Amino acid sequence: MLELKNIGYWYDIQDNSLFEDVNLKFETGQSYAIVGQSGSGKTTLLSLISGLDKPKAGEIILDGQSLSHIGLTKYRQKHVSIVFQSYNLLTYMSPLNNLLTAMAVTKSSHEGDKNYARGMLQKLGLTDEQMTKNVQRLSGGQQQRVAIARTMCCDAKLVVADEPTGNLDEDNTQEVIQLFQKIAHEQDRCVIIVTHEPDVAAVCDHSYRLAHHEFALEK
Ligand SMILES: Nc1ncnc2c1ncn2[C@@H]1O[C@H](COP(=O)(O)OP(=O)(O)O)[C@@H](O)[C@H]1O
Ligand SMILES: [Mg+2]
Repeated sequence: MLELKNIGYWYDIQDNSLFEDVNLKFETGQSYAIVGQSGSGKTTLLSLISGLDKPKAGEIILDGQSLSHIGLTKYRQKHVSIVFQSYNLLTYMSPLNNLLTAMAVTKSSHEGDKNYARGMLQKLGLTDEQMTKNVQRLSGGQQQRVAIARTMCCDAKLVVADEPTGNLDEDNTQEVIQLFQKIAHEQDRCVIIVTHEPDVAAVCDHSYRLAHHEFALEK
């Protein structure tokens, strides 16, 4: 589904490149972990995959079309959904309205379907009362579940997450990571998760390690 071809990236000068000649393939129905030391360039790679920045060399291909051809704005709106460590919910809204807003902005096939959004939050363990109060009054684990429900209500086939369990305790980490597995397997999406937690990488179908400017497949 997504193919990285000869990707290179550096911030200032090419001699200090984070990585060069990276070739990776990602498929729908599968989950991928990207692991590596802090500062190795994981977040940078995700920003390229999410269309927030352009590679300095090479190209990224989605279903046969390069991102530069599709256009990054359209790509971000239609094809990719991002889950952040810090949840990035609209803090002045309820969980339900966060979902409905995202569904409207991305013109989801379920746009306006309040019952669908409600059902998704219910599935992820939120009560009717929790769905309608301000998101800031929920725990971290609950807020991350809302962020994941938001992804599940939108149509993007590609779901990327940067340290999505970084702020969660062990129990919530396990639950959240199982939700990502469901998104990949039951919704047939491609899930790419940056993580430094071995437990998280162990659950994913595949795992790449970024070290010494290269990506090596660990599983
Ligand atoms: N906007 C930027 N400008 C210059 N250097 C940056 C910028 N963002 C990140 N870096 C540097 O690039 C390297 C990789 O950063 P990052 O992709 O955030 O790594 P990771 O997510 O693996 O910790 C780090 O050395 C970081 O300091
Ligand atoms: Mg990072």
